[in-house]
Order: sequence, then C-alpha cells, then structure tokens
Amino acid sequence: MDMDTTEDESSTPEAEASFAYKGAHQAFRDRWKETDDTMCRHSMSFHVHHTLRSDFFASYLYLLEKVPMVKLFPVTCEYIKGEKQFYYRAQKFYEDVSASEEGMLGDFVEIGNVDLEGSRQFLQRFVGPGKAGTQFALDCGSGIGRVTKGVLLPVFEKVEMADMMEHFLLHAHEEYLGEGADRIETYYCYNLQEFTPPKNKYDVIWMQWVACHLTDKDLMNFLFRCKKSLRPNGVIVMKDNMARQGCKLDPIDSSISRHLDIMRGIIAKAGLEVLAVERQEGFPEIIMPVWMIAMK
Ligand SMILES: C[S@@+](CC[C@H](N)C(=O)[O-])C[C@H]1O[C@@H](n2cnc3c(N)ncnc32)[C@H](O)[C@@H]1O
Repeated sequence: MDMDTTEDESSTPEAEASFAYKGAHQAFRDRWKETDDTMCRHSMSFHVHHTLRSDFFASYLYLLEKVPMVKLFPVTCEYIKGEKQFYYRAQKFYEDVSASEEGMLGDFVEIGNVDLEGSRQFLQRFVGPGKAGTQFALDCGSGIGRVTKGVLLPVFEKVEMADMMEHFLLHAHEEYLGEGADRIETYYCYNLQEFTPPKNKYDVIWMQWVACHLTDKDLMNFLFRCKKSLRPNGVIVMKDNMARQGCKLDPIDSSISRHLDIMRGIIAKAGLEVLAVERQEGFPEIIMPVWMIAMK
C-alpha cells in the first residue's frame, strides 16, 4: 500500500482553523453583500437585520469550534462560491462532452488501460468468499460505462448505472456496452446529489471521478445513502483525483479535488469506515494523484 505522507503547513490544526474562519467570514460577506448594498443603513429594518445576522453568525462560529462537521461547509463555499453555479457549470460542461472514452478521460485517454487494471486489482481485494458478493454493482457517475464495462461487468452478474447525462447512458445502452447491456438492470439518469439508491441492493458501489463534482455536504449525504443501499459485506469504492494540499477547484469542468485527509473527514462524517486506501500507480506525473478508497 502506497501512502502519501507529505506534510504541509495547511494541514496543521491552527492553519485549518484559520482557513475555516476565513472561509466562513468570506461566505457570510458574499451572502449579505447585496443586502448591505441595497438596504438603507439608517432604517429600522437594516438594524434588525444586522442584529439577527450578527447573532446568527456568532452562533455559527461557536458551532464551527464545537462541531467539526460545520467546518466542512465554508471550505467548499469559499472555493465554489455558490452551489447552484457549481452544479450548473458541470452540467453545461458535460453537455458538450462526447460520449466516448476520450470524453470520459479528458486529455488523458492513454491512461485508460492502466486505470482499469488498477481498479480490477483493487476490487479483487474486497469480493469473494467471506467478502462482498458478486451479484449486483452500481456505477455512480458512470458516464458511458467505461468502468462498468472494464471492471464491473466481468465480476458482477448485474450492474446498474447512474449519471446525470442522458446522452452518455443512451450511448452505453445502444452501443458502447455491446452485449453487456443485457446485464444492466437499470440506468438512473439523476444528479447524484438528488439520487437515493435502492436499499440493501448492491455488493459494490463504485464512484469514479464524480465525488469531485459534489459539494462536501452533498457528498457526505450521498455516501450516507449509499451505505444504506449496500448488502451485507458490501463496499463502496471511490476513485478520484486528490489534491496535494487543501482543495483545488477546476472552474472548467466545475470539480473540486480534496486532499486525502479532507476526503477521509467527509467519509467519517458519513458514518463509513475506511477499509483500504491505495494510490493508482502508473499515471503521468503531471496529473493530480489518483487514489482509491474502499469503505463500508
Ligand atoms: C470524468 S467523467 C467519469 C466517468 C466514469 N466514471 C469514468 O471513470 O469513465 C464524470 C462523470 O460524472 C458525471 N457527473 C458529474 N456530475 C454529476 C452529478 N452531480 N450527478 C451525476 N453525475 C454526474 C458526468 O456526467 C460524467 O459522466
């Protein structure tokens, strides 16, 4: 197992706390800017508004200190600057992405095979006698089904796919999966932040390069729902880019990469236990480190 142990200043508790506070202040300032600009500062309404707001903010800061969960929100807020825009931009981005392996892998189509082989090996560790069964898997943020075809269909009797883009799912069914499409029970065309997978159904839930498209809060809630849809011994596998430090927003495809420790925090808050963490080997140095995390 390869563990990235690089320590950086931003991961000290002091730096993290100041980061969270800065994020919270900025998020509140942004949120109320329009009110401050438009309301008459001498009016009674402005004073009432201001008092309530300060009181609320003080309570919020108190919570920030006491409940680590709250800390997660301003961090994404600061980076994303508006949840709706964050999701809207991703939607717009994928509308123009071709339903092909090139489309799924961006500029790095040559990593496809190495990626699938790394995933197959990682998955092997968690399925089999006494481990997860091989009846049913769910591919979240499946796109055209690159992972479904190369990793899941060879192992599971049936697979289901969930993605927000209809043209990817249609292409999967009509062309890309070939005969494998007969073993896809359902294609869910949903945003994961609004999707509740059926309860007690899956041996493995795979989510690759899609956790980065969810805000902290939505990711945590989605993982929580996924946990409920696992069968006994079932596991969730997340494979994604992990920032070398802090969080990194890509405004082009509207994705946010988090440091592995931040991701571990979200996973813990979702009530999941990490079973194994492994870095994908063999990718070019210029791309962000990709890690696989198995959890239950
Ligand atoms: C980089 S592609 C990865 C596709 C596939 N997992 C793979 O590894 O080949 C990201 C996929 O996530 C989907 N996606 C992005 N945001 C999503 C969201 N909020 N809900 C559901 N799907 C989403 C996109 O439509 C796209 O198919």
